[in-house]
Amino acid sequence: MKLWAGRTGGEVDERLSAINNSIGFDSRMYRQDITGSIAHAKMLGRVGVISPEESEQIVEGLRGILADIESGKLEIDMSCEDIHTFVEATLTERIGDAGKRLHTGRSRNDQVALDIRMFLADEIDRLSALAKDLVSAFCEVAEKHLETVMPGYTHLQRAQPVTLAHWLMAYAQMLLRDIDRLSDCKKRTLVLPLGSGALAGTTYPLDRKYVAEQLGFNDITLNSLDGVSDRDFAVELLAALSILMMHLSRFSEEICLWCSWEFRFVTLADDFSTGSSIMPQKKNPDITELVRGKTGRVYGDLMTLLTAMKALPLAYNKDMQEDKEALFDAIDTADLSLSVLAPMLRTAVFHPDVMKKAASAGFINATDCADYMAKKGVPFRDAYGVVGRLVKYCIDRGTTLDELPLAEYRQFSLVFDEDVYEAIDLLTCVRQRALPGGPAPETVKAAIGAVRSRL
Ligand code: ARG
Repeated sequence: MKLWAGRTGGEVDERLSAINNSIGFDSRMYRQDITGSIAHAKMLGRVGVISPEESEQIVEGLRGILADIESGKLEIDMSCEDIHTFVEATLTERIGDAGKRLHTGRSRNDQVALDIRMFLADEIDRLSALAKDLVSAFCEVAEKHLETVMPGYTHLQRAQPVTLAHWLMAYAQMLLRDIDRLSDCKKRTLVLPLGSGALAGTTYPLDRKYVAEQLGFNDITLNSLDGVSDRDFAVELLAALSILMMHLSRFSEEICLWCSWEFRFVTLADDFSTGSSIMPQKKNPDITELVRGKTGRVYGDLMTLLTAMKALPLAYNKDMQEDKEALFDAIDTADLSLSVLAPMLRTAVFHPDVMKKAASAGFINATDCADYMAKKGVPFRDAYGVVGRLVKYCIDRGTTLDELPLAEYRQFSLVFDEDVYEAIDLLTCVRQRALPGGPAPETVKAAIGAVRSRL
């Protein structure tokens, strides 16, 4: 029999239950549901809508239910319609009539909106902590590789020299913005919808501000129709998580590439690598392939919620029950991805010698060579043309700018002198890019310090 038996008999076809019940997934919010109800019951007692004794009884009863679920003594009955129904029914079973007063001045519509907001705020804290740990891992590894020169790429073609530290800290910057987005979204999540009732508020003199304070919310919603019917804060979270996953997928893709024999810039620790059932030589980066692959799930979750919410008339509609599985899936996916990448990164072995070799082979100091000429007075565009011809000359002869004898340089331009070799040395190229944001070791060291202080 249903909570809402009355207008109908409350006995429903099992196929209706199969589509209607949400306890299979919303039981995950039991703690938030009970904590929210405790605040509501305290407030009902304070404003005199129920007696202080009843309020006390409800609060005690709810605390007992929470403790018993957490200790495993009370099992959630999965045949109930949803977690709200289960908690209220269990309360009434345990404390009798007072339990039936808990729902005074409240609807499941504002209750579920509250539960999701509380749940998401908790998850935002947890995910931010995981993201911060990954940022720390980027900093730790970067500190060891301030002078590890590697090719920077555009179009996946060797372009200009950077350092491994600089590359790692690029991802740290992205993650810091992801963390900002999460905390910004949390501000709009912690706005209390309770008091909106089913849609039109309530006639009881509820103290909404008191409930907000009890639950650590920043504010209360200011329109009851809006309070029960928007999920924009949840869409925001899914968007923030999609962007986060996009960043993780780019990092993952690079690690996949770098693990290949073609690159061999990195070797993952054995306990973070997988093998093949047939090819004995294989050591695969399944971790980063999976993070890359799982990114699509989170984008899908964002689309699920945006589409469920699209064109819904005010106020609550049952479509909105579809928000939870998408949210939970995105949260779990981000959690798993962040949790695995940090230890993978900390235990990975990068190969500075291989990076150096790759950096030496692709004429990635050609820009610096042109800059060298420009600093000696040659207009940059002319210098660019000379160095282009120099590079072609080197390629035709199977040599590099570093190895080309000065006499041959001087056949192209008389501004070239002994100091050209120092100017195009890869570490020099990197050291001279010392503007804020550049790859110079000192600059990156300062950038790491700044990131660390933000953590
Ligand atoms: N299980 C519902 C949900 O997740 C709770 C709200 C039910 N409200 C209603 N009027 N049927 O959205």
